[in-house]
Amino acid sequence: MIRQKIVAGNWKMNGSKESIVSLISGLLEMDSSSSEVVVAPSFPYLSQVDGLISASSIVLAAQNVSQEVKGAFTGEVSTSMLGDFGVKYVLLGHSERRSLYGETNELVASKVKTVLDSGLTPMLCIGETLAERESGKTLEICEQQLQAVIDLVGIASFEQLVIAYEPVWAIGTGLSASAEQAQEVHESIRSFLAKSSESVSQKVQILYGGSVKASTSSALFQMPDVDGALVGGASLDAKEFIAIVKTAG
Ligand code: 13P
Repeated sequence: MIRQKIVAGNWKMNGSKESIVSLISGLLEMDSSSSEVVVAPSFPYLSQVDGLISASSIVLAAQNVSQEVKGAFTGEVSTSMLGDFGVKYVLLGHSERRSLYGETNELVASKVKTVLDSGLTPMLCIGETLAERESGKTLEICEQQLQAVIDLVGIASFEQLVIAYEPVWAIGTGLSASAEQAQEVHESIRSFLAKSSESVSQKVQILYGGSVKASTSSALFQMPDVDGALVGGASLDAKEFIAIVKTAG
């Protein structure tokens, strides 16, 4: 099964009006790519980025969303608001949201449902901590995170979402999983999904995230079950991000 690669930049809580103009103008110099290129700015900059990328093939993502549709939820942002600014993907369950903001598997699942219902595409982040890996629980944790979503939205909905495997110990540490480590988990995720639906398991794109750089991405992208990358720090540098996109072909 040929799955299109996705290279997505999660800018996290970084950027300013000025720095974003220069980052996007750098990205617009990119040659056309067979991969889908995605950027995820903070909420206040979605409109600006939407305008700057409108004539390009770059796709917009948001970093989070409310599980509620609308109403008295001060400080929250809804899926329809994201849709107003051309957002296609919504990152959900990022480890920083899980660990710093207490997002449980159940809350993440309910956000996945809200995003699917709105017609946007969840980018569902899963992954284990270092302690969990060292105690041999990597797959158990990933499966629990996936199962909560399967229980709420059903396996068929996984055709409408993207998974990002982001081992927590590799995020922002400079310590990327090796291509073989990533492949091993991606393959296991696919086998786990295949227990519910073989065809869904073959279709779903699984990205790797955690200290991805141009020097490591090419080996990652050669792995049969790695369908792209979710890039943090390196996505803030246009040249580095373009170099990563190039290695995806
Ligand atoms: P880094 O690439 O900075 O490790 O961040 C990865 C990440 O969290 C992307 O969502």
